[in-house]
Amino acid sequence: MRCLDFGPLRTAAMIWFAFLLFLVQENGRGVGATSNYLIGLGSYDITGPAADVNMMGYANMEQIASGIHFRLRARSFIVAEPQGNRVLFVNLDACMASQLVTIKVLERLNARYGDLYTEKNVAISGIHTHAGPGGYLQYVVYIVTSLGFVRQSFNALVDGIEQSVVQAHENLRPGSVFVNTGEILNAGINRSPSAYLNNPAAERGKYKYDVDKEMTLLKFVDDEWGPVGSFNWFATHGTSMSRTNGLISGDNKGAAARFMEDWFDQNNAGSTLSKASKSIEISRRISNIIPIVHEKHHELLEIAASFHPSPGRPSTKFMSMARRVRSALRLTDRPRFVSAFCQTNCGDVSPNVLGAFCTDTGLPCDFNHSTCGGKNELCYGRGPGYPDEFENTRIIGERQFKKAVNLFNTASEQLKGKVDFRHTYLNFSKLEVTIPKEGGGMRVVKTCPAAMGFAFAAGTTDGPGAFDFKQGDDKGNAFWKLVRDFLKTPDQEQVDCQQPKPILLDTGEMKKPYDWAPSILPIQILRIGQLAILSVPGEFTTMAGRRLRDAVKTVLTGSGQFNGSVHVVIAGLTNTYSQYITTFEEYEIQRYEGASTLYGPHTLSAYIQEFKKLATALTSGQPVQKGPRPPDLLNKQISLLPPVVVDATPLGKKFGDVSSDVPKNSTFKKGDTVTVVFWSACPRNDLMTEGTFSLVELLQGNDTWLPVYDDDDFCLRFKWSRPAKLSARSRATMEWSIPETAAPGVYRIRHFGAARSLFGSIKHFTGSSSAFVVA
Ligand SMILES: *[C@@H]1O[C@H](CO)[C@@H](O)[C@H](O)[C@H]1NC(C)=O
Ligand SMILES: *[C@@H]1O[C@H](CO)[C@@H](O)[C@H](O)[C@H]1NC(C)=O
Ligand SMILES: *[C@@H]1O[C@H](CO)[C@@H](O)[C@H](O)[C@H]1NC(C)=O
Ligand SMILES: *[C@@H]1O[C@H](CO)[C@@H](O)[C@H](O)[C@H]1NC(C)=O
Ligand SMILES: *[C@@H]1O[C@H](CO)[C@@H](O)[C@H](O)[C@H]1NC(C)=O
Repeated sequence: MRCLDFGPLRTAAMIWFAFLLFLVQENGRGVGATSNYLIGLGSYDITGPAADVNMMGYANMEQIASGIHFRLRARSFIVAEPQGNRVLFVNLDACMASQLVTIKVLERLNARYGDLYTEKNVAISGIHTHAGPGGYLQYVVYIVTSLGFVRQSFNALVDGIEQSVVQAHENLRPGSVFVNTGEILNAGINRSPSAYLNNPAAERGKYKYDVDKEMTLLKFVDDEWGPVGSFNWFATHGTSMSRTNGLISGDNKGAAARFMEDWFDQNNAGSTLSKASKSIEISRRISNIIPIVHEKHHELLEIAASFHPSPGRPSTKFMSMARRVRSALRLTDRPRFVSAFCQTNCGDVSPNVLGAFCTDTGLPCDFNHSTCGGKNELCYGRGPGYPDEFENTRIIGERQFKKAVNLFNTASEQLKGKVDFRHTYLNFSKLEVTIPKEGGGMRVVKTCPAAMGFAFAAGTTDGPGAFDFKQGDDKGNAFWKLVRDFLKTPDQEQVDCQQPKPILLDTGEMKKPYDWAPSILPIQILRIGQLAILSVPGEFTTMAGRRLRDAVKTVLTGSGQFNGSVHVVIAGLTNTYSQYITTFEEYEIQRYEGASTLYGPHTLSAYIQEFKKLATALTSGQPVQKGPRPPDLLNKQISLLPPVVVDATPLGKKFGDVSSDVPKNSTFKKGDTVTVVFWSACPRNDLMTEGTFSLVELLQGNDTWLPVYDDDDFCLRFKWSRPAKLSARSRATMEWSIPETAAPGVYRIRHFGAARSLFGSIKHFTGSSSAFVVA
């Protein structure tokens, strides 16, 4: 049979195809776009101590780090005008920014780059995960549960941020930035709707939802390399992991970032990955479509049986062996793709979208008070993966990741125009604020020194009963015992100023042994063309955020400098931390967020007034006052967390020996969980920065082990534990849930660690499980 002649059709199809290709390429770069900026992105490990340290966020003394779910990172972008201004934005997989971290990072950047990066044009923002090590903030209230300052947590952040910025700086090249927005309907609900309902009905009537559903995404496209990353802002708390979780985790936003970076690498596996990366990538993800014909199941079992758990001997090549899977996944001809999921006005937004229920009755909690039979301890929010917190994290992460990919793929509005910034420090203890008077005219009101209300101690439905602040608490927190004598009774002026908040802790007026709460706060606007990023040092609620954005937008559009499109995003928890900011009306209700709005009922009005001044200065080209500098309290910090004294193993066992192996001659299928336990040592001895504590390896050929999953993978958990609090012995449990995409073959699980001798020397060790088969 002769082939049909498709000649003319084929020519038409080729022309059409060429046209489509043209469209795709043009779209990738933005239609008709020319690059107008220099752009650079960077990313670095900031995981911190995975043992003994209290987690930041829930203020639950019993929530102590004991392993890693996946790693934490600092992700940075720089946008610069070729001969002009530049801005640097750093997103941290941390609960919040810290004044002290910001001060020290700026000192490091000043030492490297002079005046290129200063407090004015640098924003450092936290995603609000409640599953990262604490102790890195400088004010007393934020380090009570971590037994004071934790140097190692602090250093991991400062060092990691610096490295991430260095990468971004060195990657600066001509490129463009695109902006896109879209809604995610099912990743956040209002956890204090009774407070929201106190906002004026007319104002509420302007909005469809009682939380913001919009994600704003920036897509970074290098002139030569194409897309190099994305940053987005979306409001939802980092409380998918619970207040009892002990594994370090980036929660839903960290997960979304991990998913999106992996997604990008997989989609580019064909073209730009190195040879080693390709084979890893193939074994990780796309094995299903490559038929494995040469190895039968029993042959695999035989091969597996020929490998024995390797002894835990130290190795000089240790660090190169502990190399992460993702280091090998680097693209060969350009920097790694960086994708960050940043926090915005999440103050009253919970990721536990099924609502809050009583653990005893299963009924919804009391609407106005989030209590169960009058008690807050039993009322918990439920995530979409209830009762599995890892599933909660994965699902809420995935919802953000999928929307981000969609916005990334369809971004077409290019940012054009000036890069600029304004920054000022304000003393929030006594700001005068001019607000409209009821019945017309204006009046002057004041903010107050910081104070926390009683509802603060009740916590939220994401973590009830957050702080046991009862006087005379003797439950063994040495730091709390040390500082509780400095409790202060507020004077009448402060009581009146904070009305109707009943004051539990008058933190703004407690200065011993050093400041309990900040009074000097930074506010900042970063401008990139028609985008304005508002850096705020706390958690704005939904309506508070809307009011602030609207106020700034009005100033910006009123200036006539923007042609129609203006995007305003709030970067929450940025540069320092001062808890919550509600509206005046929400403050009246005094739920957790109102009780944690430190500077009184007019806190939000003060922000709006001062941000309008910044925006006016920005558009009119005027400078702003520097304002009073916040204190550097590093030398005053008290640390009561005991150091690692010594690590030990039982007689006859070495570090890295298997304590509980995989069953002999066993075959696992996808979806199974493989568990191996090793004799281990305290992870604080070496944080394995940009390395890993655990590794899943796949056998290639006869004796080559290929790393395929590490402790930054969602499917592999590293759990660390001591049999007793003061024991020198410890175990590391690796749990690998075999993903659907894993290649069939022979695998083993390895552990890397570092042990401390009585004399203080640190020795690295490694160990391996028996080999096993995944069918
Ligand atoms: C919540 O409180 C408001 C104001 O006191 C009251 O009108 C409302 O009935 C309460 N709602 C519920 C469900 O208890
Ligand atoms: C706004 O429009 C004017 C006139 O069309 C143009 O000259 C100017 O460059 C535009 N500005 C921006 C920021 O796009
Ligand atoms: C902030 O204002 C308060 C109240 O006026 C004052 O006591 C305090 O000294 C000020 N702090 C700084 C650092 O200026
Ligand atoms: C291992 O298991 C396979 C199939 O389950 C079996 O055929 C084989 O005899 C076993 N080998 C050993 C050494 O137990
Ligand atoms: C693996 O070992 C077998 C038997 O010892 C040998 O025949 C084969 O060549 C080896 N394959 C590789 C890739 O080294």
